Formats: sequence, structure tokens, C-alpha cells
Amino acid sequence: MKVLIFIALLIASVYSAEVVAVGDKFKDSSKCQACHNHLVEDWQHSWHARSYEKNDEYFRASVEYVSKKSHKSLNAVKVECATCHNPRIAVTSTSKAYEIDAVLGLDKNSKVNKAVNDVSISEGINCVVCHNIDQIHNNFDASKRGMDRVSWLKSGVMSGPFSDATSPYHKTQQRDFMDKDPNQLCFVCHANDHTVKGDTFTNMQAEYKNDDQKCVTCHMGEKKELYAATLRIDHGKPKKRAIRDHGFSGAHTASMWKNALHVSAKKDGNDLLITLKNDLPHNLPSGFGSREILVDVAYTSANKVVSQDSTSLTRHYQNKYKRATIAHTAETSSSDESVPAKGEKTLRVKLDKNANGAVISVSYRLVNDEVRDLLQLKEPIWSQKMAISKVSVAF
Ligand code: HEC
Ligand code: HEC
Ligand code: HEC
Ligand code: HEC
Ligand code: HEC
Repeated sequence: MKVLIFIALLIASVYSAEVVAVGDKFKDSSKCQACHNHLVEDWQHSWHARSYEKNDEYFRASVEYVSKKSHKSLNAVKVECATCHNPRIAVTSTSKAYEIDAVLGLDKNSKVNKAVNDVSISEGINCVVCHNIDQIHNNFDASKRGMDRVSWLKSGVMSGPFSDATSPYHKTQQRDFMDKDPNQLCFVCHANDHTVKGDTFTNMQAEYKNDDQKCVTCHMGEKKELYAATLRIDHGKPKKRAIRDHGFSGAHTASMWKNALHVSAKKDGNDLLITLKNDLPHNLPSGFGSREILVDVAYTSANKVVSQDSTSLTRHYQNKYKRATIAHTAETSSSDESVPAKGEKTLRVKLDKNANGAVISVSYRLVNDEVRDLLQLKEPIWSQKMAISKVSVAF
């Protein structure tokens, strides 16, 4: 038994993110357009497609910030984050020798420099990230994520939901994580992102409340009758298939937030109790550390606003000097303020004695004020308030 455990540990430690080069025929989504253009177009609008520093201001600023604060080269941090953000990158770690070269500016022709600047990763999480996965290693330590949790098929083999699909362009293989159990695919990356101290600040896998509910039903939509490929493979016509949208709509899409929480309010003595109920199988806000839910109360008298109050549900992170920082470089943090999966949270705020009613507006922001200032994010999307719900109470 001991020998077996030893061998298993040896395999697990030797197995660290193997790079399988993606052939030029499959590298980017333009290569799939001839037959899957409808899915390519969906995906182009997704934030998976923008998961690369040049296409996401918040990500870019965070990578630069982590490099500055941790005294690591920019490329070393890019390689670290690529574990989930760009898992098809050609290098998976950087050495001390590389760090010295980087400081001296001698890394221009290095493998690392070429890998982080290669156009093939500029599409972020593209088709060959999800569809070239062979196995997801759920037996691995929970901290192993992204490229460290999967092994790849040979270049040119696409894993998908169908067992009877054939294509003239590529080989196909059916996989359960594309069909019966797609949550496992999402948990490869949507779990266990952690701070320098190893504290996890996002873990959808741990907080998930109902495994029967699939991420894809809400974030790729219900299956619709269409076709997987436009190629005329079925008696001169494209083959009919039940497929899903590839837009992965989420936190950056204002319409997705409408009624994401149920809001109710009542008077309790000198206080107003506001309850936020979350029917979703994951927490809200969830995911990345500095997301925020805002609860704005406008107290009214004779239909006029007499005073206002605002509560921010977000998490704050501190460095070792107790100064504000972002989640990745944090040593300590305030408590988690999110509304739990399939649960609720009640806030108690002081009533305005001069008011006889209140209008409660609940909204979401991608980044709280603190981190937006710290990273000097300029694009309007980071401060946009996305409406969740609005209710009125009289008292
Ligand atoms: C984040 C992971 C992910 C990415 C990125 C992704 N897919 Fe998919 N894809 C899936 C999942 C999951 C399914 C299975 C959906 C279902 O039917 O339940 C799927 C299904 C498919 C299918 C079968 C038809 C269907 O919808 O079931 C095709 C074809 C396909 N994807 C092509 C592509 C192409 C082309 C791209 C790039 C533009 C792409 N996918 C990007 C996860 C992904
Ligand atoms: C020349 C046309 C063509 C091109 C180009 C093409 N495919 Fe396909 N693909 C097909 C056909 C045909 C099918 C089978 C459709 C069916 O059976 O309904 C298919 C099926 C798939 C499936 C589903 C496999 C399964 O077993 O469920 C995936 C995933 C997929 N393709 C991904 C890709 C990706 C990613 C690219 C680009 C790198 C790509 N395809 C390029 C024609 C093409
Ligand atoms: C290879 C890692 C990886 C996999 C696998 C993956 N994701 Fe993601 N996902 C990410 C990253 C990284 C982001 C953030 C991208 C950004 O904002 O730049 C993200 C963002 C998202 C978002 C937020 C989009 C928005 O507009 O805010 C949703 C929703 C999402 N993913 C759903 C899924 C679902 C559903 C699956 C499983 C079918 C999945 N993801 C699989 C890494 C992954
Ligand atoms: C019952 C529908 C439903 C299911 C199932 C579901 N989600 Fe969500 N999810 C939502 C809604 C609604 C929101 C809030 C609006 C938005 O961001 O789309 C959300 C938000 C998110 C966000 C953004 C959170 C934030 O604050 O940054 C991510 C990432 C995400 N979901 C990923 C997933 C993943 C991964 C799974 C599966 C493990 C999943 N979701 C399952 C409905 C669902
Ligand atoms: C364990 C996988 C994983 C690793 C490693 C990882 N991320 Fe992420 N990251 C994600 C996922 C998943 C999301 C989407 C979460 C959501 O929207 O709720 C995300 C989202 C983000 C966002 C928000 C982007 C947006 O558009 O709102 C930033 C910023 C970010 N990550 C920075 C980083 C940095 C910097 C690193 C490296 C130091 C890193 N991440 C490493 C998985 C990872």
C-alpha cells in the first residue's frame, strides 16, 4: 500500500502541466469559422475571449500591480496567471535564472518572452482550451487548477458532447465533462484562486449548493435545436443538433443582473431590515475578490427624498503593512460579505425618523472604489452600477 501511495505521489509530482503544442490549423478561433461560425461569433462576445492582458484593463492592471508589489518580473507573473487565464501558453513556470536575465534586460529572445507574447494566447480562453482537454484530474490536490488540473489530447483532436460526430477537419472524442457533468470543466478554473498567503478568495466549487444545476444552463443558455457545424453532412444539409450558446454571459453583462437577488424590506423599531435572498447555487457576488453589491436606500416623505444611505457588500484586502491591496497580494482581509448560495443575508440600517417610506435599490459593480482607485482603472464598465432590484416600503 505504502509503495502504491509513494508511486501515486511520484506521478502527481512529476506530472506538472505538460505543454502540448497546438498545431497551426487549430490555434485560433478563425480556424473554426468555416464550419462553426455561429459558435465563434457567440464566443467572441464573451469575457473568456478577453482573458488576456491586452483585452482586459482590469486583468492587465492587476498583473502589473502584482509584479510591482511582489518584486517578480512582469513575465513571471504573466506565466503564473496564465495557469487559468491562458492555459495553452508554451511555458508553465519561470526559474530564478530567468528572473536575473529579466532584471538585466537579457530575456528578449528567451522562451518565456516568446511564450507570453505569442499571438496564439492572445485569444485568452479559446476553443482549444476547452475542446482539447483529454482528462480533468479531480484526484489532484484542490490547489492545482487550470492547466495544472488537466491533460491535453493530441493537437487536432476535439473533445465534445457527441459520441457520433465526425469531421473532415479534426478528430473528435466524446467526454462526460462536455455532456453529463460539465460543472467539472468550469471548476477547472472557477475555484481556488488564492492570495500570496495561500488563502482562497474565490471557490465556486466549495460553495456550490446543488450539483444537479449546471453552470452551462444559465451561462450558456438552454439547449436549442440548431446544428453544431454548418458543413452539409446530413443528406446535403447541416446535421440537426441540440446545442448551446457560447456567449458565457456573466458579471459584465448588465441584463444578467436583473433580479439576480430577491429584495425585501421591513421596519423593525428604529431600524430598517433589508433581506437579500439568493436562489442561485453559488454566492453573489462570487468569483474575483473585489466585486461589490451596493444597497442604496432613499428615505422619502410625501414622495420627496429626505435623506440617503448606502451600504457596500464587498471584501477589503490588506498587505503586511495593513494598507489596502488587491486579493492576489493580500496577507489579511475583511470578512466575506457575499450573499450565500441558496441563502440570504439581512442588513440592519438606521431609519430616518423624518421619513415615512423608503426606496431600496440594489446593484452590482465589478470593482469596488478602493481597488478601482488603486489600479486607476479608466474604462466606464468598472464603475457602472448594474441594477439588480428596486423595492419600495411605506412605514
Ligand atoms: C469555457 C469552455 C468552452 C470554450 C472556450 C468553448 N466551448 Fe464549445 N462547448 C463547451 C461546452 C461545455 C459544450 C457542451 C455544451 C452542451 O451541449 O451542453 C460545448 C459544445 C461545443 C460544440 C458542440 C455543439 C454544442 O453546442 O453542444 C461545438 C461544435 C463547440 N463547442 C465548438 C466550440 C468552438 C468553435 C469554440 C471557440 C469559438 C468553443 N466551442 C469554445 C465549452 C467551451
Ligand atoms: C471543415 C469544417 C470544420 C472545421 C474547420 C472545424 N470543424 Fe469542428 N466539426 C465539424 C463537423 C462536421 C463536426 C461534426 C458535427 C456533427 O456531427 O453534428 C464537428 C464537430 C466539432 C465538435 C464536437 C465534437 C463532439 O464529439 O462532440 C467540436 C468540439 C469541434 N468540432 C470543435 C472545432 C474547433 C475548436 C475547430 C477549430 C479549431 C473546428 N471544430 C473546426 C467540422 C469542422
Ligand atoms: C481555463 C479556465 C476556465 C475554464 C475551463 C472556464 N472558465 Fe469561465 N472564466 C475564466 C476566466 C479566467 C474568466 C475571467 C475572464 C476575464 O474577465 O478576463 C472567466 C469568466 C467567466 C464568466 C464571467 C463572464 C463575465 O461576463 O463576467 C462566466 C459566466 C464563466 N467564466 C463561466 C464559465 C463556465 C460556465 C465554464 C464551464 C463550462 C467556464 N467558465 C470554464 C476561466 C475559465
Ligand atoms: C441558476 C442559474 C445559475 C447557475 C446554475 C450558475 N450561475 Fe453563475 N450566475 C448566475 C447569475 C444570475 C449571476 C449574476 C449575474 C451574472 O453575473 O451573470 C451569476 C454570476 C456568475 C459569475 C460572476 C460572479 C461575480 O460576482 O463576479 C460567475 C463567474 C459565474 N456566475 C459562474 C458560474 C459557474 C462557474 C457556475 C457553475 C459552477 C454557475 N455560475 C452556475 C446564474 C447561475
Ligand atoms: C485558479 C485559476 C486562476 C488563476 C491562477 C488566476 N485567475 Fe484571475 N480569474 C479566474 C476566474 C475563474 C475569473 C473570473 C471570476 C469571476 O468573474 O467571478 C478571474 C478573474 C480575474 C479578474 C477579473 C477580470 C474582470 O474582467 O473582471 C482579474 C483582474 C484577475 N482574474 C486577475 C488575476 C491575476 C493578476 C492573476 C495572477 C496573479 C490571476 N487572476 C490568476 C481564475 C484565475
